[in-house]
Amino acid sequence: MRLTECHNFKDFRELARRRVPGAIFDYIDGGADDEVSKRRNAAAIEACDLVPNILRGVGQVDLSVTVMGQKLALPVYLSPTALQRVFHPDGERATGAAAAKFGTMFGVSSLGTVSLGEMRRAHSTPQCYQFYFHRDRGLNRAMMQSAREAGVEVMMLTVDSITGGNRERDKRSGFGIPFRPKVGALLDFALKPLWGLNYLTHERLSLPQLDAHVNLGGTTMSISRYFSEMLDPGMNWDDVAAMVAEWGGPFCLKGVMSSQDARRAADIGCAGIVLSNHSGRQLDGTRAPFDQLAEVVDAVGDRLDVMVDGGFTRGNHVIKALSMGAKAVGLGSYYLFALAAAGQPGVERAMALMQDELVRGMKLMGARNVADLSRENLRPH
Ligand code: LAC
Repeated sequence: MRLTECHNFKDFRELARRRVPGAIFDYIDGGADDEVSKRRNAAAIEACDLVPNILRGVGQVDLSVTVMGQKLALPVYLSPTALQRVFHPDGERATGAAAAKFGTMFGVSSLGTVSLGEMRRAHSTPQCYQFYFHRDRGLNRAMMQSAREAGVEVMMLTVDSITGGNRERDKRSGFGIPFRPKVGALLDFALKPLWGLNYLTHERLSLPQLDAHVNLGGTTMSISRYFSEMLDPGMNWDDVAAMVAEWGGPFCLKGVMSSQDARRAADIGCAGIVLSNHSGRQLDGTRAPFDQLAEVVDAVGDRLDVMVDGGFTRGNHVIKALSMGAKAVGLGSYYLFALAAAGQPGVERAMALMQDELVRGMKLMGARNVADLSRENLRPH
């Protein structure tokens, strides 16, 4: 199977499964507990039907949107995700370059493997910094400071990861940071020679956003343990209100699910929220973000920009969210499998397919631009 044979998310996922060690595939693919929320995220989107309009003169389609003051050429952005150079040696560099090529926003994670500053200098497309609120307040201050110095546009605080989700696939595989293959899995690694060669011959992995402050003590730490031990479960609205004021620019909460919390986010001056259950990787059994969209947009859509992520892998999925009132949709595993499978050409192919699907979908919906979409175009199953 080659990259040119990948026509959709499932194909990228399959190519990644063949090319990267099982522990890495499972880290990207897995959810918490029984992975119910992960499945529901996708099922919820499928369970809503589109009702197209005809004869609307859709010779030209404009996909651009403005979110949190940032002009994006596409209504999708590449969500911040951790550890990208573990998946492919080009990691965040590939993701950022693909985002820039398609004129959209990308995020750099606190657990990113390329520095925020390097990514900011490399591209002018809008960038957000995904922030974890650590127990170590000095670290939080230093991270805010480097984000400011780097000149990132949007601060995106993840609020659903104050303790580790129960990711049983990672427990079985031993996946953690720094990534060290288990002796028992050596055969699996031997079967993925390209990944192994890349891993051994490329720049050593590091976590530039955290390195100066975090000492893993020579051990491998699971992502779940990092969340539980390093992040502050005591974080509250006052802490975040202070961060919003200190940041001064567009501030976004990622991981909001209730309209009550969405209202509070607006009250403290957030420019946006991302409805998200962390793709079912944190609290299993939660409602799908897509199903919360109408309620939250109705509650706060006139006060801040509502975005959504979790389970979006097709242009038509994105069109449903936009019709419901989302300002943009975050992509995660959609581009990560493409990255793991084929680096920058992989992410670019995934984005090109998404762009094509969006243009085609908008034409078939009878919509010339995102403003033409509305709930009139949706019916529950
Ligand atoms: C995860 C974090 C790191 O879901 O976002 O693994």
